[in-house]
Amino acid sequence: TRPLKVALLGCGVVGSEVARIMTTHADDLAARIGAPVELAGIAVRRPDRVREGIPAELITTDAMELVKREDVDVVIEVIGGIEPARELITTAFAHGASVVSANKALVAADGAALHAAAERHGADLYYEAAVAGAIPLVRPLRESLAGDKVNRVLGIVNGTTNFILDKMDTSGAGYSEALDEATALGYAEADPTADVEGFDAAAKAAILAGIAFHTRVTIDDVHREGLTEVTASDIASAKRMGCTVKLLAICERAADGASVTARVHPAMIPLSHPLASVREAYNAVFVESDAAGQLMFYGPGAGGSPTASAVLGDLVAVCRNKVADTTGPGESAYTRLPVSPMGEV
Ligand code: HSE
Repeated sequence: TRPLKVALLGCGVVGSEVARIMTTHADDLAARIGAPVELAGIAVRRPDRVREGIPAELITTDAMELVKREDVDVVIEVIGGIEPARELITTAFAHGASVVSANKALVAADGAALHAAAERHGADLYYEAAVAGAIPLVRPLRESLAGDKVNRVLGIVNGTTNFILDKMDTSGAGYSEALDEATALGYAEADPTADVEGFDAAAKAAILAGIAFHTRVTIDDVHREGLTEVTASDIASAKRMGCTVKLLAICERAADGASVTARVHPAMIPLSHPLASVREAYNAVFVESDAAGQLMFYGPGAGGSPTASAVLGDLVAVCRNKVADTTGPGESAYTRLPVSPMGEV
């Protein structure tokens, strides 16, 4: 069988783990997919910063040339940000490649247009890694729960802020000390403003609300408060009341089903609630639906290996689709429900 060729865009904390696992687990991946899968090239901005163990002959600084290559079947985008990621992804579709992306900012800003572009070119767009690291959420909402009716998705979807709040709560660490540690561990975004101001969680809330309620939600529809206003004394008072502070993302369908709401803000959680015991950079998301009732998804929500796990799961899925000459579920059947940031629910 012809090997499937993969272009990797970005080789930082996540990309280098993707490259490593693709190499060390090549036989397993080939068995899962039904065809061997090989790296065709790795596009980076700074070749001098590429980590040890990444094959030098695959490195290029010309990402555009790489995604245009006729032999590339799948593009993995782990560079983040809106541009040049958007142009690279749409160019990949135009050249017949499917795309696996971890880019929550881009999907939350422009997911509908990207899906439309993928569908026009008979390509796939998968982004399990964009939401809550290793935790399967996109596929369960889109596929496993597709026959049910989801009413609420609620939880902790940002590892960096959970890490900060946890450190402040348990070890009395100061805010900036905790943030530095989260950055050193590879949890925080390149610019941690996205984490601490709630933009990262708001992007994830938009993506989850869109998929859960089969509608279009963008990050601009999400009411957002970060944790920059949360002080050590807020955390101490919460503690005195038997509570802890968590940054929550809450997505709800209105009781009449005619609108949805999505919001991100710090909230006091009683210590007896399961969300209170979500420590360090872990994430946890509750999904409530008519038939299933309440489901809880829990696991590592950030970091190189966990995020790479989600990327590789998507890689297997889109490669299987390529082998079967089909595509996965798109979003063409989505309706557009009114989104109000706070709503009445
Ligand atoms: N900065 C993000 C977080 C990474 O802390 O959750 C995972 O999306």
